[in-house]
Amino acid sequence: MPAMDKLSIHLPQTGESYFCSPDESLLQGMLRLGRKGIPVGCTGGGCGVCKVRVVRGAVRPLGPISRAHVSPEEERDGYTLACRAGPACAVELEVAGRFEKPFRNGYRTQGRPSPPPPTNTTET
Ligand code: FES
Repeated sequence: MPAMDKLSIHLPQTGESYFCSPDESLLQGMLRLGRKGIPVGCTGGGCGVCKVRVVRGAVRPLGPISRAHVSPEEERDGYTLACRAGPACAVELEVAGRFEKPFRNGYRTQGRPSPPPPTNTTET
């Protein structure tokens, strides 16, 4: 049986992309490659720091996730913990945990207002 191919993971908020095996967590794949993008906490499904929303693609659970951090309703809406889910296909993720706010700076998608253009203060 051929080894399963690694799957592409993309985080538009940071522009980061990496490849991850289906049998490793989204967070493990990122850490293995020394990449950044998803905030790292306990790596055991308990702190919620690595909460993400699956924007495109699908993930599969690799273990229980804390209901204190991802409700069943949120899970149905695509939220999960990156340390407890592996890719089922190529996926695009959005950081959604308590450290999500800094990732919004400079992150623009359709429907979100663009920041005002920078002003040139060096002209006299
Ligand atoms: S790193 Fe703590 S829940 Fe994922």
